[in-house]
Formats: sequence, C-alpha cells, structure tokens
Amino acid sequence: MARLDMTETFHHISFPGHIHTQDSLNYALHFQFRDRDTVIATYPKSGTTWMQEIVTLVKNRGDPQLSKTVPNWARAPWLEQHYSAKVLEATQGDRIITTHLPYNLLSSALQGSKAKVIYVARNPKDVAVSYYHFHKMAKFLPEPNSFDEFLDSFLEGSVSYGSWFDHVKGWTSQAGVLANGLYISYEEMWLDLQGSMERISSFLHCPLVGDELTNSLRHCSFSSMSDNAMVNYTQIPKEIMDHSKGKFMRKGKIGDWRNTFTEEQIGIFDTVYSYQMKDCPLTFMWECP
Ligand code: A3P
Repeated sequence: MARLDMTETFHHISFPGHIHTQDSLNYALHFQFRDRDTVIATYPKSGTTWMQEIVTLVKNRGDPQLSKTVPNWARAPWLEQHYSAKVLEATQGDRIITTHLPYNLLSSALQGSKAKVIYVARNPKDVAVSYYHFHKMAKFLPEPNSFDEFLDSFLEGSVSYGSWFDHVKGWTSQAGVLANGLYISYEEMWLDLQGSMERISSFLHCPLVGDELTNSLRHCSFSSMSDNAMVNYTQIPKEIMDHSKGKFMRKGKIGDWRNTFTEEQIGIFDTVYSYQMKDCPLTFMWECP
C-alpha cells in the first residue's frame, strides 16, 4: 500500500505533510488562546491520547458520554493540524487543545495567556520504541527500516516533530515560569493513576469526588481505552493507519524498551542522553535507579 509520507518542513522540523501545511503551522504560532483553554503539550508517543482522555473525563466529571461518542482528535484537536482552525473557532466555552509543537514555537502565542498547560513527558527509550512501531502502521510517516537506524534518527532529532531532547528541555524549562502549567510524566500516571487524576483535576479546578473519580479511572484505563473506537484509531482508514501492522494502543507499559534495546544501543543512547540533558535542572522519574 502506498505511503502518504510527504513532509512539511517548518522552522527546521519535519511534520507529516498530509495533516500539516505551512498555513496550519503558522496558524498555531499566532493562535489566540482563551483563558478557559486547556493545552496538552507532548512529544509524540508520550501519553498524548491518555491525557486527552483524562482531561475529557475530568471536565465531564467522569461521565464517559463524550469520550465514547466523539473522536479524540475532534474533542481535543491538534492546534497545528489543518482541520483545527475550523473546530476551535466553532467551539464555545472550555476547549481542550493538543499540540506536539516545541515550546519555542508557541512561546509568543502563550505569552501572557491564562490558558492552562499540561506537559506530559515519557522515558525517551520507551518513546523511541513506541514511535518505531507507530511508524510501521502510520502511513503518513516514513517506513522505518531497522530499529537501529530509527534510533539513530531519533537521537539526532531528524524524525518527525524534531528532537525529543529539545522538546522536553524547552517545555520543562517553563515549569516554574508558565503561570498555569502542570508537568507530569507518563510514568507517574502509570504508577499512580488515581493520584495523578487527583492532581490533574485539582489543577483544572474540577476536583472529582466519589463515583466521578472511580468512573474517570475506569474509563481511562489501558483496557477501556483499547476498546474505545474514539481513541484507538480503528476508525481511521487503513490507507492512513494500517492496523494489520500493529495497534495504536500497543502495550501501554513502562520500561518495555528493555525488550528491544541491545547493550550497544543502551550505551549509545545513554551517552547522547547525558550530553543533551547535562544542563537540564530537573530529575526525571526514569533517571532514578
Ligand atoms: P506504547 O506504544 O508503548 O504501547 P501517544 O498518545 O502520545 O501517541 O502515546 C501512545 C502511547 O501511549 C502508546 O504506548 C499507548 O499504548 C500508550 N497509552 C495510551 N493510553 C494509555 C493508557 N490508558 N495507559 C497506558 N498507556 C497508554
């Protein structure tokens, strides 16, 4: 089956060309955020869809009606994709907006804004493995060869959406600067979903009680989301996502990179990681022994 992997290069970063245009990317850069907006910012494969589901459930107090009837990309559109202007401009009240853009491209649009920003980061070794598998099924990304080759591109930042290092350093450097920002990791969500949900809901000023919390937790579990056609991408035509090549809701684990990386790849990765992150003041959960 033919691939749709033309790219759109913008500020030296390549974006999948079937969903991004220069106009849509420029639209994001000059976007007027509203005070009631919630922005979910992530590097791909870091738990974006999970956070979209969590925020949707929190804002609906655990009622899964919206999660079960409206696709994630329509209820939490990606700011930089070509369809978002139409959706976002037509939405009154609270909006959930997703972005994979690096912080430096959105900094001026966010300047002075009271929009709430949630940044989710994930262990980059798990991101690399997840992203590699996603490249196999997503026809809008280049067909990957070996994992080894993919890992080289990931480490040099030449994959779609650019460098993981720049993304994480850019957004987390704003943790104490963004007036309305919350930083959380995929690992924290995985190890303590209830505590994470409570943290997120209180950040959004929607603290959940009793059944609201229980229902939210149930509907954003890996098994529940795997069965939800509004988030598992099974409704996307196979010309765009080929489900015979893998599942979007693939494994949902932490530390599973160990089943893919060789000793040599671990050595190379750790060297690049130490160099790239040497000036980053935060300690990430995956760095703890
Ligand atoms: P894996 O490929 O490791 O399974 P994104 O939404 O940013 O593209 O991230 C997708 C990754 O998040 C996939 O990782 C997917 O399985 C995982 N994921 C999505 N929902 C999840 C959930 N409820 N619990 C755990 N992992 C989840």
